[in-house]
Amino acid sequence: MGHSLLSILCLLVSLFVYSCICAPLEDQGRDKITYLPGQPGSVEFNQYSGYVTVNQQSGRALFYWLVEAPTSRRPESRPLVLWFNGGPGCSSVAYGAAEEIGPFRIRPDGKTLYSNPYAWNKLANLLFLESPAGVGFSYSNTSSDLYTAGDQRTAEDAYTFLVNWFERFPQYKYRDFYIAGESYAGHYVPQLSQIVYQKNKGIKNPVINFKGFLVGNAVTDDYHDYVGTFEYWWTHGLISDSTYRTLRLTCDFVSSTHPSVECMKALKLAELEQGNIDPYSIFTQPCNNTAALRHNLRGHYVSAYHTLFSESTLSKGILLNCQQKDTCNTS
Ligand SMILES: *[C@@H]1O[C@H](CO)[C@@H](O)[C@H](O)[C@H]1NC(C)=O
Ligand SMILES: *[C@@H]1O[C@H](CO)[C@@H](O)[C@H](O)[C@H]1NC(C)=O
Repeated sequence: MGHSLLSILCLLVSLFVYSCICAPLEDQGRDKITYLPGQPGSVEFNQYSGYVTVNQQSGRALFYWLVEAPTSRRPESRPLVLWFNGGPGCSSVAYGAAEEIGPFRIRPDGKTLYSNPYAWNKLANLLFLESPAGVGFSYSNTSSDLYTAGDQRTAEDAYTFLVNWFERFPQYKYRDFYIAGESYAGHYVPQLSQIVYQKNKGIKNPVINFKGFLVGNAVTDDYHDYVGTFEYWWTHGLISDSTYRTLRLTCDFVSSTHPSVECMKALKLAELEQGNIDPYSIFTQPCNNTAALRHNLRGHYVSAYHTLFSESTLSKGILLNCQQKDTCNTS
């Protein structure tokens, strides 16, 4: 009697444990990356990737790649940072992770990887998200979703992703959490942050322990993007005082997609004054491609260069609408 009661209890406990802990952990285990093709041998961190369904009816699923901090740096003590590239249409895996802040860079052979000395996962656990559905590896089974996507749904899907992702990775519940990104993520990041903030409101110890957000090279709106860009150029000695003044006067309150003739003239002047530099990394040596890229501008400045490149010959494949940056990789 006591024995069977005990076994029933055990069964119940194990069922409970299974459904509450083992199932998500099993999903997590399935997402574990043991080895990426061409990966260097000495990798001291864990990586995971997979899909999280954000809309059952449409069949929308978002792809993520989690790169934890090295085990020697105690990833369990470090925050979680969600990363978005912009575009809209830019892949966080292909761009942010592979060319900027991720753990690996791709060698020119296209087959092997090397460690990025500036990888952010030295300090934080990085969660790269392909957003919205249709970008990178994220997809929808309803084709029309690709034409009806907008900032609102992008933010809502990203929030649903987060809620479900934290179920799969319960060890990150209550962990310090930041939302970060660049370029058009100047929309994605604050808009998702606002949803998280609102859903957390009044909850004492929220699962998504949101601490803050950060955006680089943010697309906000034409007015502020112009103000910020011109001020950056001027305060970094890239343009003269008079060109700065002219830019402020002629490009004031104009659309960056259809700047006035006067504004375009001023932009052309600014471009000439800047010379051959990489606008995204003004202190590093430009490579030959930079000149080619800048030549493509033809004086047509668009806020933070983002839409500009989508109109150039570079708008192909996954880099559609991504800001383009040179990588003079020799290693
Ligand atoms: C999309 O459709 C495929 C093929 O039917 C299916 O395997 C997959 O689970 C669907 N995705 C979602 C998110 O429902
Ligand atoms: C850049 O172009 C110059 C002249 O065409 C060439 O000599 C040089 O090797 C190129 N450098 C790189 C890094 O491709």
